[in-house]
Amino acid sequence: MTLGLAPKAIDALRAAVHDLHEAVEQLPIMKPLSRGDITPSEYLTALKALYGFYRPMERFLFTAGMPAACTMPVKPKSDALKQDILGMGVEAGEIPALPMCGNLPPLLTPNERVGALYVLEGATLGGRTILRRIASGLGASAGMATSFHGFHGDQLGPSWRRVQEYLGHRLDGDHAGILEAVGGAKATFEALSMWLASPRLGSSSEEADSLPNTLLDRLRCGAPLACSIEAAAEAIEHVRNVAKGNVYVVKNSVDGSFCGIPQGELDAFIHQCSISGSFSPVCFLGQVHRMTDYVRAGVFAAWTYVDLLERGLYDKAEDIRSAVLRCQPERLQ
Ligand code: HEM
Repeated sequence: MTLGLAPKAIDALRAAVHDLHEAVEQLPIMKPLSRGDITPSEYLTALKALYGFYRPMERFLFTAGMPAACTMPVKPKSDALKQDILGMGVEAGEIPALPMCGNLPPLLTPNERVGALYVLEGATLGGRTILRRIASGLGASAGMATSFHGFHGDQLGPSWRRVQEYLGHRLDGDHAGILEAVGGAKATFEALSMWLASPRLGSSSEEADSLPNTLLDRLRCGAPLACSIEAAAEAIEHVRNVAKGNVYVVKNSVDGSFCGIPQGELDAFIHQCSISGSFSPVCFLGQVHRMTDYVRAGVFAAWTYVDLLERGLYDKAEDIRSAVLRCQPERLQ
């Protein structure tokens, strides 16, 4: 991407996500939000899908120690989504069982996280338009469930101006910083699109069981986390065979999320987060070149390992761990 001599962050971000935003609007799960005849069930499905993305993203981004997220004038919105889901008649006890996106974008630097927050915040900018469009289809039930799309109420204008000012002060004129923020925003939209297109969303457990079974298939179709040991081992084997350059998989022990960190960036990453005690390398994958499926495969393998440990299945966890560690000595380059 080329930027002009005096790039403005907001213009670069807006331009970068334009097509991705349009694509999200056209996804079957989101499309009813543009229609006057949306049904309550379609509205509820869209809210649940957004909740499944916002919740894990915000748990990551608003964790203590995420410096950019702490200074940007934005607030988490997943509680508003939860309130709307309850407002549409879902029982509180059903909330924890809602599907959650496990394929979050890596967002390694503060500016990438600023780009991600721009996306999460921007959705409420379009929210007012959405509420106007769907009001007739939803009738009274819409009035019960507008916390997310009407998040800022009559303060929408001033709050978006504060976001723009923040972006301006932080990034205007800083080409590298803007490129990072743009990267974070695009990665967030891409992860969101993959999640919203996931066949798991809204499918019954029977349909879900017939979905692709291998870990890599699951990654490709954006399905949520659960995977078998065989699938994780297969993915690790794939990493070992195909990838280039070393990557650490780290677990954030505050919120349990994982991400892949290129070897050379691990120290800087931990330093940036200034909570080195909260991040621990759980495995070390050989030879990963880019943040691709392979990294995510490793992340999932690591997740499986920790999940097995937490469930007390130590032998099975050990199978995973040793398979991951077998990757370590390999340097294919
Ligand atoms: C069918 C669903 C959606 C519709 C109809 C929609 C509509 C809109 C509209 C009309 C605007 C412009 C608002 C204005 O300038 O006053 C907007 C902005 C925006 N929306 Fe959406 N949106 C949808 C979904 C989403 C989602 C799911 C996200 C991300 C989670 C998102 C992120 C953004 C962002 C980042 C902007 C701000 C762009 C800028 O900088 O001006 N939108 N949307």
